[in-house]
Amino acid sequence: MRGWAERSRVGRRLAGRFVAGTTIEDAVAACERVNAEGIAVSVDSLGESVTLEAEARAAAEVYHRVLDAIAERKLNANVSLKLTQMGASCRSGRADAREDAKNNNEGWALAEEIVGGVVERAARLGLLVRIDMEGSAHTEATIAMTERLHARFPGSVGTVLQSYLYRTEGDAERLLGQGIRIRLCKGAYQEPAEVAFPAKKDVDANYVKLMKRGATSGVFCGIATHDEAIVEEMRQFARAQGIAKSAFEFQMLYGVRRGLQRRLAAEGYGVRVYIPFGTAWYPYFMRRLAERPANVVFLARNLLRS
Ligand code: FDA
Repeated sequence: MRGWAERSRVGRRLAGRFVAGTTIEDAVAACERVNAEGIAVSVDSLGESVTLEAEARAAAEVYHRVLDAIAERKLNANVSLKLTQMGASCRSGRADAREDAKNNNEGWALAEEIVGGVVERAARLGLLVRIDMEGSAHTEATIAMTERLHARFPGSVGTVLQSYLYRTEGDAERLLGQGIRIRLCKGAYQEPAEVAFPAKKDVDANYVKLMKRGATSGVFCGIATHDEAIVEEMRQFARAQGIAKSAFEFQMLYGVRRGLQRRLAAEGYGVRVYIPFGTAWYPYFMRRLAERPANVVFLARNLLRS
């Protein structure tokens, strides 16, 4: 399915709902359009679970070029990347992904070398690299690598925490204590009840709790959600606590809740849109469908039309 979808014309048209295009030029053009509305961007070159070192290095090369393009064009943008795209999954291939992720020391060492190069370039250009958070098998290693990279390049790297994980409150304290920037999201992967809240109301309640903690921590905080009730709660909380608009920003995905993005930006809040581009869009697209049943209706309608 993935191979067919990513290569077919119909597939690419569907992906256009959430993905800015296939080339760096497409991403830059989308960035310029979004920046013109007073909205910042995080550029994501799509790809994950790469198993060949050469592929991981090629993926990093794309990020080096994106960083240069951001600096040259003076875009209001940073980049987001995934560690399994940068080598963390290389030389894996064992059946159990959980065991794989924990034992694949070679893959993680490779990823750290590769991402270290990307963060070094970002630091030189005064830009930030955000390390996306993937499934829970990768959480500890992702946080630990972010800490080491932050120690080498302070302020040039941050990561993402997911409010559906029980461990996240502790992780937030751990990162904030070191001044490491957090993007807070609810979490997009299928996780078992041993590690994540099964009920959405608990995920949402934990989100609000952690959002307030982040916003009052003194460390700049990315509030990544399209949940209007939570956005409103943040606005009220900031007003009540006298939290400056410069202490946090709202973050949303390209193609999702555009009206809300524009409204918040017009009100003077920092807003950043996550713009993915590239050909390896299938897993990203499937996660967006899984988040919202209405997106499946969108998919079905477009498939029928094609
Ligand atoms: P929720 O799912 O409760 O949805 C609230 C409302 O938002 C919905 O009712 C709908 O109106 C709208 N909405 C939400 N998702 C939509 C969609 N796909 N299409 C259309 N409307 C939608 N996850 C992760 O595990 N690791 C990561 O690194 C990141 N990074 C990241 C960056 C940014 C900038 C964002 C916004 C999100 C992520 N995520 C992520 C994804 C995140 O974990 C989560 O899956 C989605 O944001 C959906 O959750 P919401 O908080 O939007 O709320």
